Amino acid sequence: MTDFNDWVRVIQARTEAALTHCLPEAHIVPTRLHQAMRYAVLGGGKRVRALLVHAAGDLCAGDPVALDAAACAVELIHAYSLVHDDLPCMDDDDLRRGKPSCHRQFDEATALLAGDALQSLAFEVLSQPGLLPDADRQLSMLHMLAQAAGSRGMAGGQAIDLESIGHELTQTELEQMHIHKTGALIRAAALLGAHCGREDAEVVRAVDGYARNIGLAFQVVDDILDGESDSSTLGKTAGKDAAQNKPTYVTILGLARARQLALELHDNALAALRPLGARAQRLEQLAAFVLQRRF
Ligand code: IPE
Ligand code: IPE
Ligand code: MG
Ligand code: MG
Ligand code: MG
Repeated sequence: MTDFNDWVRVIQARTEAALTHCLPEAHIVPTRLHQAMRYAVLGGGKRVRALLVHAAGDLCAGDPVALDAAACAVELIHAYSLVHDDLPCMDDDDLRRGKPSCHRQFDEATALLAGDALQSLAFEVLSQPGLLPDADRQLSMLHMLAQAAGSRGMAGGQAIDLESIGHELTQTELEQMHIHKTGALIRAAALLGAHCGREDAEVVRAVDGYARNIGLAFQVVDDILDGESDSSTLGKTAGKDAAQNKPTYVTILGLARARQLALELHDNALAALRPLGARAQRLEQLAAFVLQRRF
């Protein structure tokens, strides 16, 4: 099996190429909107969700064209969520992926529309006629992505996030917020990957258990990094959660117990993969990547 770091670089480059291809070119009218869409998506980001699509997809011998489409769709939804998350009416952030956030580089209205259009593009890419030989399967993948992005997924989690400013949440309430705002799309990424290949209920069950844990762990680590790291390492403004009085795992549990929780979630993710044995090695490595990430 290819070395993990080499594999990450290959998938990142492959995803960058696929995204470059599916985004409208910058010279096409309306040029400012297309420039903003490309600015928000290309040349940055760890592509964790694309890595999950491919790692889960490889377990089911997923079709490479379908895997690239699913990876693009999830990364496009994710990029849209970041553009809107940074707007003044949400987190009001000036820095994203080491560059001015989209509304700072362009303007608020353009950033709003770029987010809208990125979301539509995600569904355009995944709904390409004939992408999978089984149209029903493709339809259920679209359904999955729509649910993960919508009011019972990411957008709903963002709504809870904004409503929670200045409030003390219980750990269960915070968990619900994080499962929605971040966990849902990460879970969808892994499940979409698994659905690009042969139907295998055991794999889907294991991948689902893994992805639920990794999705929550991802936001626990994000909360820790927000408080612990600096803006140049993160490529986004550090200390933002405390400055905006947001409840996080660090405010609720303290740093040491938040770290412990991230580790427990990582271990639970690996336990879910156990029935798959050595076949799940890539997903195991990816779990460590999520836990150990520095930005
Ligand atoms: C940041 O996500 C927003 C959260 C959901 C915590 P990532 O840390 O995956 O951001 P990029 O894509 O690497 O920039
Ligand atoms: C955002 O969570 C999750 C999204 C759905 C975009 P955060 O607000 O903590 O993400 P960052 O820290 O700005 O990347
Ligand atoms: Mg936010
Ligand atoms: Mg934010
Ligand atoms: Mg954050």
